[in-house]
Amino acid sequence: MASGLKALWALSMVLLVSNWQHWTCGKATPQVPCYFVFGDSLFDNGNNNYLSTPVKVNYLPYGIDFPTGASGRCSNGLNIADTIAEQLGFDSFITDFGVGGCTNFLDGVNYGSSGAGILDETGSLSGELFTMNIQLYNHKITVSRIGKQLGSDEVAKKYLNQCIYVTDMGHNDYLNNYFLDTYNSSQLYTPEKYAQLLIETYKTQLEDLYSTGARKIAVFGLVRVGCMPSNTLQHPNELDDNSCAYKLNEDIQIFNTKLQTLIKELDGKYEDAAFTYINSYEIDSDKTNEAFKFTRESCCNVMASGGVPCKSLTIPCANRSEYVYWDGAHFTEAKAWNFGKRAYKRQSSRDAYPYDISELVQLKLHDNDGDIVNHAQL
Ligand SMILES: *[C@@H]1O[C@H](CO)[C@@H](O)[C@H](O)[C@H]1NC(C)=O
Ligand SMILES: *[C@@H]1O[C@H](CO)[C@@H](O)[C@H](O)[C@H]1NC(C)=O
Repeated sequence: MASGLKALWALSMVLLVSNWQHWTCGKATPQVPCYFVFGDSLFDNGNNNYLSTPVKVNYLPYGIDFPTGASGRCSNGLNIADTIAEQLGFDSFITDFGVGGCTNFLDGVNYGSSGAGILDETGSLSGELFTMNIQLYNHKITVSRIGKQLGSDEVAKKYLNQCIYVTDMGHNDYLNNYFLDTYNSSQLYTPEKYAQLLIETYKTQLEDLYSTGARKIAVFGLVRVGCMPSNTLQHPNELDDNSCAYKLNEDIQIFNTKLQTLIKELDGKYEDAAFTYINSYEIDSDKTNEAFKFTRESCCNVMASGGVPCKSLTIPCANRSEYVYWDGAHFTEAKAWNFGKRAYKRQSSRDAYPYDISELVQLKLHDNDGDIVNHAQL
């Protein structure tokens, strides 16, 4: 009797999961049941607020255009991860993981943490943070909760298979490690060897993510860190024709090139999964940024010349839509939208490959029970 009831209950959970669209009565229906976000300060939606670190932005003018004010996002409003959530059809913000108390984890969780990187050492000198390894650990906590909520790990896996995963990692392995004298990585590794170390570590982490049930994974490359106002001001004698610090851009391009190869390899290796590369470097090009009036200036008043964070309670630029950069390193909401739209629906084949996120949503991948196999037919 008890086991019969249990089986019935499991069956009804399966029906519920396959009909997840009906859960959301009255709300907009997202295109996928859940959306998970791994990343650094480009994606952090408030996780660092919970940590003991000076690297947090829970004060105005951050959030000046956000419905609830300063949320911990490094932006005047939304960040790139938020714009993708909105395009996926989620009508509320994806919850941060924080210290693990989040209740709304079935929609997905944002694990992003400012300062974090692929390597555990990255950012370690600036305070607590959720490195990529910790973000993956936190995700396993979420996965186990989803298993409990849906009745079994198997049902949870089917559910998790349908979701979108985005990851944006590597900026801080340069900005908050390799490019700083306080870390020894630049003495230990050539740019080439260092990029290789990052890629090998990231590969293990992406395969770990796959093992938790992730099947639709968009991996963001690195933006033009040499064009960030903080870096152009700190490297005035190393600027190229576009007024960007070319050495920094050269180093991170080594990583980007290797990352593209890795994504292609993983996409080929796992037939039941799709990995795609979002070409952040291209989407952050000057050609794209021509839509903005100010491409090399921060909208807010930063703490020191060449610094990153905005000074607390200062008045930022009046029209945030005219600026690419909100502070010394992070995008305005306007640029985040411009970016997120191209990651979601590419404007050219160079923006995202083999899939953009809208195509990733539509892909029919076969699961272990056999069914559909039409991966790579788009
Ligand atoms: C480099 O720094 C790391 C910690 O950041 C330390 O574990 C390692 O021993 C150092 N290596 C050398 C060769 O100094
Ligand atoms: C702000 O800038 C945008 C983009 O240049 C422009 O379309 C808009 O009209 C400006 N808004 C105001 C209030 O000036």
